[in-house]
Amino acid sequence: MEKKADLFDRARHAELMKQIAEWDVAYHTNDAPIVDDATYDAAKRAAILLESEYPELAADPDSVAHRVGAAVKKEFRSYAHSIPMLSLDNVYNDAEVSDWLNRIKTNEIFCEPKIDGVAFSARYEDGVLVRGLTRGDGMFGEDITENLKTIADIPKELRIKNDELRIIEIRGEVYLSKQDFLDLNERSEKKFANPRNAAAGSLRQLDPEITRARNLRAFAYAWGEVGEVVWNTQSEFLELLTCLGFETTAEWSKLCTSQEQIAEHTKYLGNIRATIPFDIDGAVYKVNDIAIQRKLGFIAHSPRWATAFKFPAERAQTTLNAITIQIGRTGVLTPVAELEPINLGGVLISRATLHNADEIARKDFRVGDTVLIQRAAEVIPQVLEAVSHAPDSAPYVFPAKCPICGGDVIREAGQVARRCANTLSCPAQIVGGLIHFVSRKGFDIEGLGEKQIELFAGLGWINEPADIFSLISRHKSEILELDGFGEKSAENLESAIDRAREIELGRFLFAIGIPEVGETTAKLLARHFENFDSVRTAKSWQLQKIDGIGDVMADEITRFFADEKNSAVLDNLLKEIKISPVPAAPALGADNPLNGKKVVLTGTLSRPRDEIKALLESMGARVQGSVSAKTDIVIAGENAGSKLADAERLGVAIWSEADLNNLAAKNGA
Ligand code: IVH
Repeated sequence: MEKKADLFDRARHAELMKQIAEWDVAYHTNDAPIVDDATYDAAKRAAILLESEYPELAADPDSVAHRVGAAVKKEFRSYAHSIPMLSLDNVYNDAEVSDWLNRIKTNEIFCEPKIDGVAFSARYEDGVLVRGLTRGDGMFGEDITENLKTIADIPKELRIKNDELRIIEIRGEVYLSKQDFLDLNERSEKKFANPRNAAAGSLRQLDPEITRARNLRAFAYAWGEVGEVVWNTQSEFLELLTCLGFETTAEWSKLCTSQEQIAEHTKYLGNIRATIPFDIDGAVYKVNDIAIQRKLGFIAHSPRWATAFKFPAERAQTTLNAITIQIGRTGVLTPVAELEPINLGGVLISRATLHNADEIARKDFRVGDTVLIQRAAEVIPQVLEAVSHAPDSAPYVFPAKCPICGGDVIREAGQVARRCANTLSCPAQIVGGLIHFVSRKGFDIEGLGEKQIELFAGLGWINEPADIFSLISRHKSEILELDGFGEKSAENLESAIDRAREIELGRFLFAIGIPEVGETTAKLLARHFENFDSVRTAKSWQLQKIDGIGDVMADEITRFFADEKNSAVLDNLLKEIKISPVPAAPALGADNPLNGKKVVLTGTLSRPRDEIKALLESMGARVQGSVSAKTDIVIAGENAGSKLADAERLGVAIWSEADLNNLAAKNGA
């Protein structure tokens, strides 16, 4: 008779399901895990154990055994996988490997590294990449076709085309190399926890150009739907993949014929883990013979013919000697754990990020604590928990004043980050702010880049943007004595600085580094207000009236201009430069067919939506979110979906982006 779960088991199962679902969303949907792999796996095993004991629990469609990952991100179009994208079961020790080998009844096992990246599926029809999907929930994936096309390791066209390969779906893992991960974190404001999260965040970008800039790589290792399976073994399949133009992990894989060989190769992978350029988090064992794979088939969410061995994360205990605060360009205060140096898997660890004030409070980290640290995904060490507090320790108090300049530390509603409010006058932010000021999208001063700003700021010659414009007159003779500066280069710098004395309002608003205000918003503000004084004195509600500016941004902007030190810095700057008016809106002839029209944008467009929206608005159109009978025009980019279908159904005019561009050119917009 079927065993019945009692109240306690049911409650425990429900609790585990809720917990796992929450962790899944953090990991898969938000690319920001909130729990380490071992804890996650333990919870999952506990749930599966309950489900195998009590079939009534497994019958629940949301049961852990039925779940793979988490739901798709809302903004992406989703498609059903022609063959579900499943996950792998895990083995944790020799006994489990032996059980698995007994079950599959073959000893010919292909042993591959388990890439710690993001799974993809790429569908080729007649040799051409037609659709790329993420795993999503295993049944439906997110459409990342355009993003996959930006990855050099994934061919847009297969090198071999023939009838047998008319339809083939190649699956594998997109990843970021350890070095590219470090570089990305160095230059980007958002800090990713590890290469896997960075790869996931980079792949799931609505703008494929962002993906392109991230240098993603990919390995292929499996297939989905195929017209004809024209390979007999997994090792042969990897050879075919290479011929088709993919990268594989063949170099680090081995065909094993005994459990000893499997263990040996797994150990080898564990040893090279630290030295290969990408993260691996285990080994994958696959039955090599495809005919036997077929016979073995699948259970619930994973194939019987494959399993994964996950490396244990390297952990150790050490002392939290101090908590220091680092400040970035935008003034975000990042708490850093200063640790008693400890060797973890060959790497000496002495610092780790504590992320933010909430994390410290949640885990009650105190100076003097014995803490448990872990080197997750090989690169960034994590502080997992406080094992014990030192006697007489007190909870950590996050600074209320900036430790560098003494400015107020603020925290916006709904945001975890705390920031120093003195954006333009905090010394720690000055150099970063000045570099931003002279950057390409800002004042764009030739010969005055990051290196020179650091040099002049270090010498105390530039403290605020206005100083740039008097730099040469104040320090010409000293500059001539600096390494790398001669008469000619000093003269060139002087004329480049002089040329920058006139700047268009949009660029100016970008350059001064208002929090949250990027290039697009700066342009929006410039177009709307037309002169700097109006932007500077605008009330929050006036800013919020602008389509594209929400309450958070509006508050940032007003707070920035209300700050006294910021005001002084801006006043000094305004004495040195002239802000040119925004180019006038194009004269809209009566024949401009967009005037007063309701327009909806859909599909993948070649430029950011905000930019196209601003263009449309400058031509008198009103941009709306959804298609209705009242919509006049739908501008459809590539891969347009339901909005385009709605437009067709309702008989709404459909334009391409080129139609818009032609019209804009005619109108001088
Ligand atoms: S084979 C039917 N091979 O690990 C399952 N997966 O934890 C086909 N992974 O879902 C997967 N390296 O995203 C396979 N060499 C490899 C892999 C690999 C990494 C990922 C994959 C999978 C997950 C399971």
